[in-house]
Amino acid sequence: MKRHEFLTALGVSAGTVIFAPFLTSCSKSSTMDPTPPPGGGALDFTLDLSLPANSALNTNGGSMLKSGVIVARTSGGTYVAVASACTHQGTTIEFNNTSSQFHCPNHGSNFAVTGAVVNGPATTALKMYNVTLTGTNLRVYA
Ligand code: FES
Repeated sequence: MKRHEFLTALGVSAGTVIFAPFLTSCSKSSTMDPTPPPGGGALDFTLDLSLPANSALNTNGGSMLKSGVIVARTSGGTYVAVASACTHQGTTIEFNNTSSQFHCPNHGSNFAVTGAVVNGPATTALKMYNVTLTGTNLRVYA
């Protein structure tokens, strides 16, 4: 029996034999682990409070803007971090040391240090980030 006759008897065409290894490769790639790598692009940065650039956070009431986040040290000495975009129309908010609130200079919304709306026109709370202080390193992360 010749090769062609043998394959025909099995019901297998030459094309099937040639492409079978490639189909196997496609099958393997589609079953790869879809889990993203650690971090996955989520917000995560650390501020070294011993550096002059971050010195505003060494005083109660101080604040700074980094990577779309306002990091503030409240009058009580607690660190908080919120998304800097006002939930009304996206204006960059600021930390008001006197009121110990986040304030939007555009239309006057105010937010508590918990991110909750104190007064509008904003109706949605600010996104809060986790903050952990280890030595002089202040980590801000989602
Ligand atoms: S953009 Fe902040 S109150 Fe309107």
